[in-house]
Formats: sequence, structure tokens, C-alpha cells
Amino acid sequence: MSSWQATCDLPSFAPLTQDIEADVCIVGAGIVGLTAALRLVRAGRRVVVLDSQQPGRGNTGRTTAHLASALDDRFSELARVHGLDAARMAWESHATAIDLIAAIANDEAIDCEFARRDGYLWLAPEHDSDILRRELETVHAFGWRDVEALDEAPVFGGPCLRFPGQAQFHPLKYLAGLCAALVRSGVAIFGNTRVEGVAGGEEVVVTTAQGHRVRSGAAIVATCSPICDLFAIHSKQASYTTYAIGLEIAAGIVPPGLYWDTADPYHYIRLQPGADGRDILIVGGEDHKTGQADDGERRFDALEAWTRARVPAVQQRRYQWSGQVFETLDGLAHIGPDPGGAANVYIATGDSGMGMTHGTIAAMMLSARICGEASEWQQLYAPGRHPLRAAGEFLRENANVAAQYADWLRPGEVSSVAEVAPGAGAILRSGLSRIAVYREDTGELHACNAACPHLLGSVAWNHLEKTWDCPCHGSRFDRRGEVIAGPAHTGLRVVDPRTLR
Ligand SMILES: Cc1cc2nc3c(=O)[nH]c(=O)nc-3n(C[C@H](O)[C@H](O)[C@H](O)COP(=O)(O)OP(=O)(O)OC[C@H]3O[C@@H](n4cnc5c(N)ncnc54)[C@H](O)[C@@H]3O)c2cc1C
Ligand code: FES
Repeated sequence: MSSWQATCDLPSFAPLTQDIEADVCIVGAGIVGLTAALRLVRAGRRVVVLDSQQPGRGNTGRTTAHLASALDDRFSELARVHGLDAARMAWESHATAIDLIAAIANDEAIDCEFARRDGYLWLAPEHDSDILRRELETVHAFGWRDVEALDEAPVFGGPCLRFPGQAQFHPLKYLAGLCAALVRSGVAIFGNTRVEGVAGGEEVVVTTAQGHRVRSGAAIVATCSPICDLFAIHSKQASYTTYAIGLEIAAGIVPPGLYWDTADPYHYIRLQPGADGRDILIVGGEDHKTGQADDGERRFDALEAWTRARVPAVQQRRYQWSGQVFETLDGLAHIGPDPGGAANVYIATGDSGMGMTHGTIAAMMLSARICGEASEWQQLYAPGRHPLRAAGEFLRENANVAAQYADWLRPGEVSSVAEVAPGAGAILRSGLSRIAVYREDTGELHACNAACPHLLGSVAWNHLEKTWDCPCHGSRFDRRGEVIAGPAHTGLRVVDPRTLR
């Protein structure tokens, strides 16, 4: 079963096969990279985009595409950590991002099903209605006056807040439209081109795995999790795997809208119009830290059971998929100069589950900065910030990462390669090493050292996606050990399976 977006075809691009020059080199062709490329080419810059896969194959191809200016980590919490003015700026930046997506879709004639919706935050049964009261007081205090409290949330019942002016769209139709607009404007997009090095300076040099170089005046590392930073940013954000399902439902039963609750992890729901009088109810949640659980089917089933208990009219499950989100300490993205100090290198990361709007904010801010313009949101999203009032969260997340290194002392999951079933992966101990072993359905074995090339976490098997996932900062590798997602930018070290018992 695939994701609901997978029905959309995106263009493919050939790899980079020579050294080239540009004004700006963008690494990563998700919503951040492609939106930034459009802003920059419209500002007259020569832009090159490189992607290790193809546009839209990262988390933008897995989003449930709520376009929200209502922060899911809640404005009352943001106001506690950063003050009321910061909460107002966060709201304004996300609302501006939604407006920009609407404007780009309109200007470039992108048929991406953009539609305005109301958003509803309703109270999880275990929570006190004080949560909603505090949230309403905060948004009214900073000026979002038309948010209102309702006694009965549509569909889910119980007290809720209604946030007007939210939206939804089809993310891959949007990306396909962005690609077409970029190609028309002369932007060079290269697929299957993995970047291994980003060296900052007056001239930024981006080096690909094939050894080609792009020389430019600036680079945007738009790889969702930055591949240019070893530690600074990854100690301030955490990688979570989140799950989503699409259930058929007769049209008209669930009113169009974005819905989410106060639970932790929370549930996020919206309606996708379907064909033949049937809509798709998209339901997400069941998050866990990447690489720290391997029970995806149970989580899909839990989402379905949770939905059936509340919306008994849902019919069969048509879609299911998972992906990653990067949670920051304060629920705001990290957007700005590389905190490692590489000159003219910029990052956009820490989507906090709101990567469609955070990604569009990043594209606005970074393109403006590269063009020499200031942004009033610069401090709010600065990658170097240390929110002191979120210190507890910082300690909790980093203690969790430190605990993952204990895996190196644990025995293997199998004691010989013969125990690895076809289509399965398992960790085998070989002396002091842990070996990630995968057996193809044909019986062929692949083996790699389980040490993640980022900071030596021990990868774990994800049988749903058939990937090796790192429990420390969320790097992911395919079943043969090739890197799919950073912060690692190289694969696992291959081991000859004939040397294993
Ligand atoms: C199930 C799910 C539901 C979600 N729901 C929502 C939602 O409702 N609303 C919302 O706003 N957000 C949501 N998100 C979050 C959102 O999808 C992401 O935050 C967003 O797509 C990130 O966009 P991006 O451009 O930063 O990264 P990506 O889309 O991941 O793009 C990064 C690109 O970089 C490329 N890349 C990686 N490494 C390299 C390298 N070394 N060299 C070259 N290229 C490289 C990848 O191939 C990829 O194409 C959801 C996420 C998931 C998984
Ligand atoms: S992602 Fe950091 S150690 Fe693996």
C-alpha cells in the first residue's frame, strides 16, 4: 500500500556529469529547495538544484499537506518560551507562507488543488480544557481575533478552537508545477546526484559523490536534515517517524477541514476529496523516535482503530505510509546561516511537522538573504538560538541519544546469517562490530557495518520501509546500505557477506 500522493507523476532529471558554476547552488529538491529556486530565479540569479534522488522523493512526497498557520506545538507554549511577540511573528510567517503557496500556484497556473479550510484543535479526553483556554487567550492577545472556541468540534466532538484561513493542497502536483516553472526559467535541475561536501567561503564549492563540483556564491542545504553540519544543529532537533493512513468514506460525512488534537503524540486528520462519491480521510500520528521502534503495521492498525472509534462510517484502508519529521526544542524551524560557520552556506531544517509552511518560510527568508534583503523573522528562526526555557527538552532528547550508544554493547539479533529470512534484515555481532545483514528474496545477502557514518550510532532495521534507520539523529540507508537521508551523506561501509558466519 502506498501514500495517496504517489498517484502523481513528477519529472525526472539526469545526473550532473561535469563541473559547473552558478550564483546559487541548492542541495535538495523538496518544497524548500524548489521554492527557494523559484524565488531566486525570479530575482535574476543563476540557480542549480542537485538531488540525490529526484524531486519530491523526500518527505515532501510523504506529507499529509495541512497548510497551517496555527502552530501544532501551540502558541501558548511558544509565548512561554520566547514571548508574545515571537508567537505573533510565528503566526504571521506561517500565514504569509500559505498566501505565498496560493500566489505561486496562481501565477504559475499550477493545478495543485489548493483550497482554504478551517482548522480545528480539539481536546484529547485526558486533557483539561485549560489548554484550549490558554491557547485562545494567547492568540487573541497577539491579534488573531477571529479564532473562536466552540463547544462541539465537528466529527470529533467536545470543546475545540476554530482557526480560520488554513489550507490544504496536493504537494506533488505543486512540486511538479514548480519543476515546470523552474525549467521554463532556465534553472538546471540534476537528479541522482548525491552531494558529499559543501565547503563555504567567498566561493562555495559543492562536491558530488561522482566528484563533480558546483562553484557558486552561496549554497542552500535543503536536505530536510542538514548534511553539512556534524553536531550543532542535530543536538537541538530530534528525528521522529510518523505514520499516516487513508480511509475511504462516503462524501459529505466529514466536513472539509484540518483537524488535530492535544494528545502527545497528536493525531492530525484532514479530508481529501475523492472520486465516485467517496472521499479519503487522511489520519496521521503514532510518532516515535526514528530507529527506536519497528512495529509500523501495529501503528497503522492503531490509527485505524482510533479513527473507527470516532468515525464509524469510514470504510476500507486505501493508503498507508510513514516518513520523518524533525522536532526542534521550541517548535520552530532552524533557518539561516550554517551554525558550523561555513560562509555563504544556509540551512533550512527542523520542520516540526509543519514543513510545508516552514519550508516556504525558509525559501522566502533564504532567497531574500542571498539577495541582500533583511527579514524580520531572522532572529525567530536563527539556527544558532538556544531557547533557555526549553532546556529540559534539550536534556531529555540528548539523554535519549546518548542512551542509543548502549546498542554497541548488546548482542546481535541473530547469531548467524542463516537465521536472516528472505526479505528481512537483522543485526549480527561479529567480534566488536555489529553487522547489518539483509537477505534478498532471491537469497542473495548484503552486509554492512552497522556504524552510522554520521556519529557512529548503530543502525536498526525498519521492516516496513526496508531501510536501516539510525536511532541517534535519524540518518536512513537503503537495504544495501546506500544513504537515503541525512545527516549522513555517505553510505554504510560494505562488508563481504562471505566473511560472516
Ligand atoms: C507522514 C508525514 C506527514 C506530514 N504532514 C505534514 C503536514 O500536514 N503539514 C506540513 O506542513 N508538514 C507535514 N510534514 C512534514 C513535511 O512533509 C516536511 O517537513 C517537508 O516535506 C520537508 O521538506 P524539505 O524540502 O525540507 O525536505 P524533503 O522533501 O525531504 O527534501 C529533501 C531532498 O533532499 C534530498 N537529499 C538528501 N540528502 C541529499 C544529498 N546528500 N545530496 C543531494 N540531495 C539530498 C532528498 O533526496 C530530498 O529530495 C509531514 C511529514 C510526514 C512524513
Ligand atoms: S544520524 Fe547521527 S549517528 Fe547516525
